[in-house]
Amino acid sequence: MKVAVIGGAGGIGSSVAFNLLRTDHPYEIVVIDNRDNMIVSHVMDLQDALSLGGATSVVGGVMADAMDADIVVLSAAVPLTLNTSRDVYLRDNARIVGEIVDQLVAGGFAGILILMTNPVDPLLTWVARRTGWTRERLLGYTLNDTQRFRTGIAQALGVAPQRVSCWVVGEHGAGAVQVFSSVTLDGKPVELTTEQRAHALDYAQNWYVRHVALDSGRTSTWSSGIGGALMVDAIARPTATPFPASIILDDEYTVTGISSSAPVVLGAQGLLSVIEIPLTTEEQAQFVEAAQKIDELTRVLEGE
Ligand SMILES: NC(=O)c1ccc[n+]([C@@H]2O[C@H](COP(=O)([O-])OP(=O)(O)OC[C@H]3O[C@@H](n4cnc5c(N)ncnc54)[C@H](O)[C@@H]3O)[C@@H](O)[C@H]2O)c1
Repeated sequence: MKVAVIGGAGGIGSSVAFNLLRTDHPYEIVVIDNRDNMIVSHVMDLQDALSLGGATSVVGGVMADAMDADIVVLSAAVPLTLNTSRDVYLRDNARIVGEIVDQLVAGGFAGILILMTNPVDPLLTWVARRTGWTRERLLGYTLNDTQRFRTGIAQALGVAPQRVSCWVVGEHGAGAVQVFSSVTLDGKPVELTTEQRAHALDYAQNWYVRHVALDSGRTSTWSSGIGGALMVDAIARPTATPFPASIILDDEYTVTGISSSAPVVLGAQGLLSVIEIPLTTEEQAQFVEAAQKIDELTRVLEGE
């Protein structure tokens, strides 16, 4: 399976490439970026890790090399600046994502797009409207939201995060819905105390704000890299285990034509099905309100 990582010399892209190398699957990985020296630097490094995993090859490439890829992982973006919202990157990243997607359309790319660039929901909604590609081929990466909730719950319960399961749905941003009724410990539903809930919510809702405030100049490269590779793997080697992703909703959660997160089942064609987990009235309202904001941001781009 050929996987082209565009923005592959950046923090997220190179981490996805590295984590794909670590699987035991015969991926052919192509690293594409507009910083040629950084492509060479990463590929020189990654090539020496190739024999330690199951991937077939890792090479540098140009956009033409993405056209026959089975999956394009797109993480190209403007450099991070000190800001607290992903939305401030909307216009600049749309310019980059738009140029790349237009080239994929012109080049006849027929595979699956995993978009990681932020703000992922309005950008993916915009890409869907711009390309007319079916929603099965359009996936936004949002696993980190669920992972952060999971970490926060595990800390609150004082248990290892591997024992916790949960879902976050809706916007990849401030409007995310942490669904407490979905929380399980060792596979069994668990009720958190008010204090435990507050800790888990604080961790999940404020992780991004705290991290950006460090002004480190880097994003969540480790978690996003392993998560991005797991998402590729869920397509390459489907298991029917639900995976969180931003997808163009089609009346799920009462929303249509806007990309937001939900548990989905992935397979060789991309999106196979969307799972609607039960939400309270308040959670449902939060989901819809955030979707309206995503729609508004998308319309900003459509108007330009
Ligand atoms: N969806 C998520 O959960 C999630 C998580 C973390 C980061 N992100 C987002 O992923 C994006 C990338 O983050 P990063 O840490 O890798 O940033 P980065 O700055 O390290 O990497 C971005 C890369 O894109 C490249 N690039 C820019 N324009 C390009 C173009 N036209 N063609 C090819 N390459 C181009 C740059 O040269 C750079 O290497 C950001 O938008 C970030 O917010 C999303």
